[in-house]
Amino acid sequence: MGLACAVSLSLCLIVSAILIVNARQAVQEETESAFRLAHEAVVRRLPPSHGGRDTMTEAIGLAEEIDGLRHVSARILDPEGQPLQHRAHGQLRSEASAPQWFSALMTPPLVEALVPITHYPNVLGMLRVAADPTDEIAEVWGDFSIILPVLFLAGLAMVGLAFLMTTLLTRRLQSVQAAMAQMQDGRLSVRAPDDRLTEFADLAAGVNALASHLQAEQAENDLLQARLIGSSEAERSRIALDLHDEMGPQLFALRAAVSHAQAMTADLPERPAALDETLDAIAGHALEVQRSARTAINDLRPMLLGEASLAELLAELVTGFRDVASETRVVLDVDPEVEGSSPGELAELSIYRFARESVLNAMRHGRATVVRVSLDTMPDEPGQIVVRVTDNGKGPQSGTGRPTPGFGQIGIEDRARALGATYLPPWRDNRLTHTELRMPRPCKLR
Ligand SMILES: Nc1ncnc2c1ncn2[C@@H]1O[C@H](COP(=O)(O)OP(=O)(O)O)[C@@H](O)[C@H]1O
Ligand SMILES: [Mg+2]
Repeated sequence: MGLACAVSLSLCLIVSAILIVNARQAVQEETESAFRLAHEAVVRRLPPSHGGRDTMTEAIGLAEEIDGLRHVSARILDPEGQPLQHRAHGQLRSEASAPQWFSALMTPPLVEALVPITHYPNVLGMLRVAADPTDEIAEVWGDFSIILPVLFLAGLAMVGLAFLMTTLLTRRLQSVQAAMAQMQDGRLSVRAPDDRLTEFADLAAGVNALASHLQAEQAENDLLQARLIGSSEAERSRIALDLHDEMGPQLFALRAAVSHAQAMTADLPERPAALDETLDAIAGHALEVQRSARTAINDLRPMLLGEASLAELLAELVTGFRDVASETRVVLDVDPEVEGSSPGELAELSIYRFARESVLNAMRHGRATVVRVSLDTMPDEPGQIVVRVTDNGKGPQSGTGRPTPGFGQIGIEDRARALGATYLPPWRDNRLTHTELRMPRPCKLR
């Protein structure tokens, strides 16, 4: 903007300077040629010194006549050079003259000539002829007093126009940039506004086409991810079922056989102590293997999934935590409104995995002593189940903003995206750490 002002002002000044120099040149040429003509006329018409004529009267008449012409002045001087009369017309003419500074700029160097008035043998005086630019300068000033303001007003208008254009263009660019920034933040449904200017309309259309393309790619990625999750869950279910159906009965049979053996040996009168110990050890190991198998099966697919409600599923999870980590108190808080409805098996599984991972993170990373798992609905969005895990631990490492997600959080995020849910990674509030998952209800695999 400053540059436009400077350029416009310089242009105005340059054009004014050129106009002034040209006008000055014209004034000089015009007055000089008038002076030459007047000088010649005086020399030719002044009576000879010994013709017996009244030289002084004729000279006065000639001076008045010359002084009446444009661009020249004439005066009679006495032999000492003092003026003998006022100018006949010059004084009147110079009244409506240009301002002082303009006259000073325009006035060319003085040209004058002194012609002696003689009456033999005396010199009666001098007739002084000089170039007089006053009226010419007044005329030029008349033109300039219109041209100069118009020139500067035009310059000002140019600056105003440049300012207006820059503001308009910047505003349009900013609206496209704002849309792009939102797209960069992941909001790909945002579109750059259309524009009446073709260039900007093309730019907005290009940006929008790119966003649509990205949106389509993302939808395809989400779909692939969802299918991957669906098939991996199906595979896990199959393995869990196999383990449950094959290993379960065999382990049950093994434990039954051991207790049968223990019952039989109990009746023997003289049995070796080592036998009792060995049978006890077999029974203990069999129990451990059965527990491990149950844990593995539950990890692959929660036993109650599809059979019990989400609240019961989570209650079982919380009870499990109480058993393994007695130093942490895990509490479950379920909104009765959620209890009745099921968001679908896959969503339940995702909520279950989210709760388990978040409680484990709170224990492991935050060293929390109290962890609360809550199941609510959003007051303004009743279609969403909000699962929140709150702990009183030390929270994620502060300073660098969001902690680097590990496999746990990446898994939760991927599942959430595939199911159209929203995952909010751990954040600190009032010395507590919160982690949240918002699941749409009912939730269908996309
Ligand atoms: N409740 C929490 N309290 C403190 N830190 C947490 C909590 N939840 C997550 N974090 C931080 O987030 C990081 C990533 O967690 P996660 O993705 O589950 O990976 P992992 O548990 O395998 O390290 C953790 O290393 C931890 O620093
Ligand atoms: Mg973890």
